[in-house]
Amino acid sequence: MDTFTIGGDLEVRRLGFGAMRITGKGIWGPPHDPEEAKRVLRRVVELDVNLIDTADSYGPEVSENLIAEALYPYPDGLVIATKGGLRRTGPGEWPRDARPERLKECCEASLRRLRLERIDLYQLHSPDPKVPLEDSLGALRDLQDEGKIRHIGVSNVSAEQLDRAQAVVDVVTVQNRYNLVDRSSEDVLEACERAGLGFIPWFPLATGDLARPGGPVDELASAHEATPGQLALAWLLARSPVMLPIPGTASIDHLEENVAGQRISLDGEDLERLAAAA
Ligand SMILES: NC(=O)c1ccc[n+]([C@@H]2O[C@H](COP(=O)([O-])OP(=O)(O)OC[C@H]3O[C@@H](n4cnc5c(N)ncnc54)[C@H](OP(=O)(O)O)[C@@H]3O)[C@@H](O)[C@H]2O)c1
Repeated sequence: MDTFTIGGDLEVRRLGFGAMRITGKGIWGPPHDPEEAKRVLRRVVELDVNLIDTADSYGPEVSENLIAEALYPYPDGLVIATKGGLRRTGPGEWPRDARPERLKECCEASLRRLRLERIDLYQLHSPDPKVPLEDSLGALRDLQDEGKIRHIGVSNVSAEQLDRAQAVVDVVTVQNRYNLVDRSSEDVLEACERAGLGFIPWFPLATGDLARPGGPVDELASAHEATPGQLALAWLLARSPVMLPIPGTASIDHLEENVAGQRISLDGEDLERLAAAA
């Protein structure tokens, strides 16, 4: 499997796993079958995936707790990337709170839940319009200085916010929504490529109308004997060497299908067709 080195010292396979979907409906509360969620997590590791993305807000707390219950003590080389900076007030509700004192509390709680002394990749979940971005990142820099965070990432940022973040801390990854049908973060992806930062696209499986029967994704998927989701992942991996997709699922079958998607190799003509269609 193709790899990328985050922050100069964390080598990960480029296809990761998003652990948001192993919670209840609306990313609220426990999943209906916690044992199955733990089996999915163990299968992630068996399949040689070694980047797991989570957040304190998934559940909240549920996703991080399940990861620790399923995988601790962690295998060598497993990178758990978590995030802080959102609150949960109910299913589907995600108010922002990236005050420095709050981020420090979030990180301490994630360390406890994940049973770690240091988090390999800690991401600011989203800039908080009520808090200067520099203040939020200053808190993460303090945590890094204290040895509680190895590397810092940002999420849901514009290119201008990424520039401001890089002036305060060494940003090593950016996590933004990006997929075949939503390329609004193209400028942020290009900034990551120039700076050698990992780009973690969330909602990577989206294909929207492109996957309609007879549509370009549907046709190419059939030609490659793949599903539209596998094609979406193959396209992301081909799009940039800094791309680190983290498809999420609560199903072992879907996990296996997604991991198999990285074997599909798209040629220049396939990529041009997809670019033209999108
Ligand atoms: N930074 C942020 O603000 C942010 C926001 C959203 C997500 N994320 C991260 O990004 C990760 C991925 O994002 P996402 O969950 O929104 O999008 P996604 O991974 O593109 O899609 C997940 C959805 O697709 C389904 N699915 C997965 N594999 C499938 C397959 N092979 N066949 C059919 N359906 C399949 C899942 O349902 P099943 O469980 O039924 O498979 C789930 O409903 C999350 O886990 C999280 O770590 C970050």
